[in-house]
Amino acid sequence: GMSSGLAMLVTAVLAFRQRSRDRLAPVLLFSALGLFGFVSWMGKVVVHTNLEPLNITVHMLGALALVGGTVVAIVRVRNRTGVTVPATVGSGARWLLGAVLVLALVQIILGTQVREQIDHLGNTSDDCCRDTWISQLTGIFTVHRFTAWALCMLGLAAFLALGAGDKLPSHFNRLRWAVLILLGMEYAAGVVLTRWALPAAVQPVHMMLAAVLFGVLVALAAGSRRRPLPLRASAPADTLPADSPP
Ligand code: HEM
Repeated sequence: GMSSGLAMLVTAVLAFRQRSRDRLAPVLLFSALGLFGFVSWMGKVVVHTNLEPLNITVHMLGALALVGGTVVAIVRVRNRTGVTVPATVGSGARWLLGAVLVLALVQIILGTQVREQIDHLGNTSDDCCRDTWISQLTGIFTVHRFTAWALCMLGLAAFLALGAGDKLPSHFNRLRWAVLILLGMEYAAGVVLTRWALPAAVQPVHMMLAAVLFGVLVALAAGSRRRPLPLRASAPADTLPADSPP
């Protein structure tokens, strides 16, 4: 915790010193640092209040905002310093990407609620009879399983739509593939949790994959821009005389 906090502080200070290149990056990074303090403190509250429901969800959302803000800052700086170029994508693909991002967030909140129930079952049964916990989960678990399926379908649609347009920069294309792979792994981890009585080692894997998926989706959204209107894009070419050299 200490070392990641320090690394974030150094990054934020460096971004502040380079603020003439990008004004938003230091704001994002200092906000992320503030969130880092809040999320760490919330983590302590979560443990002290014996995993009180809601606290886990607030803790999770704080952590995701931290990841999101930092990823946006990284993508902006990389694009502004020429390390990467933003991808130009059609507005349909942008909409799909936004929908996947929102649904992923909903799914993570639902999953956190499922986890709250699991923790409650663990506490009240003194960690006994793990294999009976899944069957004791309430409706939210059914919703979580349905949304998982919907998210995979929407993710696939966004993947295809992003690939159907202009040629994508290679880093962006890798992130596009990562969404598909992460969704598959996340779904598989969920099935393993459900079928094999919540293996303890798979619990953090399922959560980590969700956080990485969220970060990748934010990177795709921040690293793309809408294709300019065809009219504007073709205007300069139209003004060239027909016999001018290429
Ligand atoms: C595909 C997208 C999915 C996402 C983004 C997602 C996300 C999450 C998250 C963030 C949690 C909370 C984990 C924690 O706080 O430790 C969770 C819990 C859970 N999810 Fe999913 N999930 C997905 C799919 C599934 C599927 C397909 C299943 C079952 C077939 C499933 C079963 C579960 C179970 C059983 C828990 C409670 C696990 C625990 O005790 O840690 N999930 N999910």
